Amino acid sequence: MRKNIVAGNWKMNLNHAEGLQLFAEILNLVNSDIKGNQEVVICPPFVHISSLAQLLKADSNVSVGAQNCHQADSGAYTGEISASMLKSSGATYVIIGHSERRAFFAEDDLVLAQKLDSVLKNELTPIFCIGETLEQRNAGTHFDVIESQLKEASFHLNDGQFRQLVLAYEPVWAIGTGLTATPEQAQEVHAFIRSKVSEHYGAELANDLTILYGGSCNPKNAADLFSQADIDGGLIGGASLKALDFIDIIKVFN
Ligand code: G3P
Repeated sequence: MRKNIVAGNWKMNLNHAEGLQLFAEILNLVNSDIKGNQEVVICPPFVHISSLAQLLKADSNVSVGAQNCHQADSGAYTGEISASMLKSSGATYVIIGHSERRAFFAEDDLVLAQKLDSVLKNELTPIFCIGETLEQRNAGTHFDVIESQLKEASFHLNDGQFRQLVLAYEPVWAIGTGLTATPEQAQEVHAFIRSKVSEHYGAELANDLTILYGGSCNPKNAADLFSQADIDGGLIGGASLKALDFIDIIKVFN
């Protein structure tokens, strides 16, 4: 179901006490008038997931997620975490295919397809990230890149499975750079993504899909971005580490 989601990707930041403090500040500031179809997702480092999840009330519009998982359920994968372990720790979302995973950990389409399968099998919601590099955009190949990332890792899913996905368009050149895509640039790509989903799965499923924008989203630009027809919220990095900034982004939908 299409929702307005503001998700915070804390990346590799905050020790346990700092994470608990920030999460408590966010919970206190996220007032009860979050609209019914709006959701807030916090994706801390693995080691904080269980502690944060225990602070959530049953009917909360706030969820805890993970930033990655291994594609296997268990086994000799030293240092890795499985989707079933994340579920047992209280996570309900998992970011898959973040550009930093693709770049620094060589996660290709096949691995990402397997990760999506594992997350869905464990009844968690994937936030599947796609996006082009600056070189690809400057070369004018960004639509080809995005279509390929989408098709190669997720179009094997059946309708019921794909319907569970949240997609996130994260232009790599906007991540952590302060160089945000313009609302027009982001809307153009979001509309393209929705059109490709519609071609493969039909218009009804495509229109019901949540597509987030990520890449230097902050309190100053969030309203213009989220006002676009095909942008349903944001996947926030740096600004999610500051409670007041993160809340200001959440309140764009209030
Ligand atoms: O996953 C979200 C992240 O990649 C965006 O980071 O710091 O540009 O908001 P940032």
